[in-house]
Amino acid sequence: MSELQALDLDQTHPGRGRRVTSGKDRPRVRDPRIVIALDFPSADEALAMAMRIDPARCRVKVGMELFTATGPAILENLHRLGFEVFLDLKFHDIPSAVAGACRTAAAHGVWMLTVHAGGGRRMLEAARAAAEDGDRRPIVIAVTVLTSLEGSDLIEIGAAAALSDRLRSLARLSHDCGLDGIVCSAADLGLLSRVFDAGAIRVTPGIRLTSGADDQRRVTTPGDAVRAGADYLVIGRPVTRAPDPIVVLDMIERDIAAGGG
Ligand code: C5P
Repeated sequence: MSELQALDLDQTHPGRGRRVTSGKDRPRVRDPRIVIALDFPSADEALAMAMRIDPARCRVKVGMELFTATGPAILENLHRLGFEVFLDLKFHDIPSAVAGACRTAAAHGVWMLTVHAGGGRRMLEAARAAAEDGDRRPIVIAVTVLTSLEGSDLIEIGAAAALSDRLRSLARLSHDCGLDGIVCSAADLGLLSRVFDAGAIRVTPGIRLTSGADDQRRVTTPGDAVRAGADYLVIGRPVTRAPDPIVVLDMIERDIAAGGG
């Protein structure tokens, strides 16, 4: 009997189940640690980029722009090219809707998926339980506070807590609900060190080799991200919009190695 069956989760009210995982059954961090965000408006552009990079050097991320354009066919195509796929659709809805989406994503064989921690306990527990339904359970990661947001943005949306408090409570809740880890800025990892156990997976977007003018606000270099404890580094535009993506990938790998990764 699986751990989940033993816990006898109430499927009608999935959030009423007890905690569904512990540190010991968390997936292990495996190379490669670079995840390239394929934020493109079409399958042709995304696959053209995927064909220039090597699955031995990076995984790929499919986000809402690409998935909205292509549907799940892109997952199959990227799997055929040999990539493990991070499906980053940041599910945030009522528990049954998110559970259905996670179950379907698991059936498509994705390696990792995201849900918004702000969806609350019952949604997070339902997501984690539903991900068990496929042949190979995807890593389920909670998005805490988007790396494009800063303190003033939170005030504007009426979030009462300071960014650091909000981060900590969302991370603690995700951990408590049995999620495998979190997405956050590498700059925030220090704040969260006591919330997660050593086996929790830390996924960090907002990676930049140099400071630049785009929509990311809480950014770090690849080396600093690894030094701060990042397990997987999500990198999009610095690679995908570069004149030579492979040159940038080489630089990122060197910076990660210099950071001890
Ligand atoms: O192009 P760039 O390197 O900024 O891409 C970062 C990627 O990480 C984007 O696909 C974005 O959706 C994703 N992401 C993020 N912040 C989060 C979670 C995911 O930037 N908190």
